[in-house]
Amino acid sequence: MPTINRQLRLQNRPKGLLAPGDLQPVEDPVAPLSDGQALARVKYLSIDPTMRVWMVADTYLPAVPIGEVMRAFGFAEIIESRHPDYQKGDRVMGLTGLQDYVIVDSLDKRSFQKVPKIPFVSDTAFLGVLGINGLTAFFGMEIAQPKKGETLVVSAAAGATGSIVGQIGKIHGCRVIGIAGTDEKCAWIVKDLGFDAAINYKHPDWKEKLAAATPNGIDIDFENVGGEIMQAVLGRMNLFGRVVVCGLISGYTKEDPGMASFATVLVKRLRVQGFIILDYASRFMEAAKQLGQWKMFGKLKDRETIVEGLEKASDAINMLFTGGNTGKLIVKV
Ligand SMILES: NC(=O)c1ccc[n+]([C@@H]2O[C@H](COP(=O)([O-])OP(=O)(O)OC[C@H]3O[C@@H](n4cnc5c(N)ncnc54)[C@H](OP(=O)(O)O)[C@@H]3O)[C@@H](O)[C@H]2O)c1
Repeated sequence: MPTINRQLRLQNRPKGLLAPGDLQPVEDPVAPLSDGQALARVKYLSIDPTMRVWMVADTYLPAVPIGEVMRAFGFAEIIESRHPDYQKGDRVMGLTGLQDYVIVDSLDKRSFQKVPKIPFVSDTAFLGVLGINGLTAFFGMEIAQPKKGETLVVSAAAGATGSIVGQIGKIHGCRVIGIAGTDEKCAWIVKDLGFDAAINYKHPDWKEKLAAATPNGIDIDFENVGGEIMQAVLGRMNLFGRVVVCGLISGYTKEDPGMASFATVLVKRLRVQGFIILDYASRFMEAAKQLGQWKMFGKLKDRETIVEGLEKASDAINMLFTGGNTGKLIVKV
């Protein structure tokens, strides 16, 4: 049994990007297991933009209390068990938190799911393409109701969610345009993932390029960013288009995230729907099967950016807001 559990606890509610000390490293003793508990070693942590929101505000989950281990999804392996449902070597996924070890008990069972061993599927895929991001892309695209020949625009297009959204759009026969923050990311989504075009929003003429790439307007906005990008995309929407509000990352580090103009929603009679992936928990298996099949047949490609070391988690969270990741961002503990 390990004796020390390294943890990162929330010390301050960040303003802007995370500052040193917002997450405080602590060494906590590992308590002996009671009946009905299992101890899991956290192997990989999913680094998600929503973590920055959990640090400051009550939203679909309450804000993380000051002094508590920072909430995070992770992939872990059971190393000791006094729980009838878990055996040494079982692999689980759930809200592990930013720490080395997590106790899995009956109360936690709802948030932890056992992960099967599948040949040729990496452990990290269960955090990205077959995990939260793949599922988010899948159900978000279900809300979008794509039809063959329609134009889909997705923002944060070279990220974990956006890169899958665009590929699902192609599977449905859409013309897919991605918006991303570097020329390398744009080249990856067009050349490797099969998007029809990509726009680097850091180029001064990106709005003209977006117009040139969407000559027939936009039918679906899969919105991951918000702010100026959402405003520009909404301006090119066709009548009765669909806007899937998945995330608004450009506002997460700001005091006042601002609002897109709803005049366009009115004038263009758009259908706007927000969603939180947890609403679809009862259908995760169905979606994971489909995503797995697409991946097996080469219709879905994914990439991961892996940062080594629990102590780097704070820097890793900031990478999401400075565009330092391509595809799924993961911390290897
Ligand atoms: N609704 C749900 O249940 C749900 C679930 C998962 C994720 N999400 C949302 O989906 C979005 C993407 O999440 P993810 O986990 O897949 O992260 P990700 O796309 O892998 O990483 C975030 C990316 O966003 C881009 N970005 C950051 N700040 C930006 C800004 N100010 N303007 C434009 N682009 C910016 C960066 O890429 P560039 O280099 O391109 O700027 C960065 O790499 C987030 O908004 C997240 O909150 C929602």
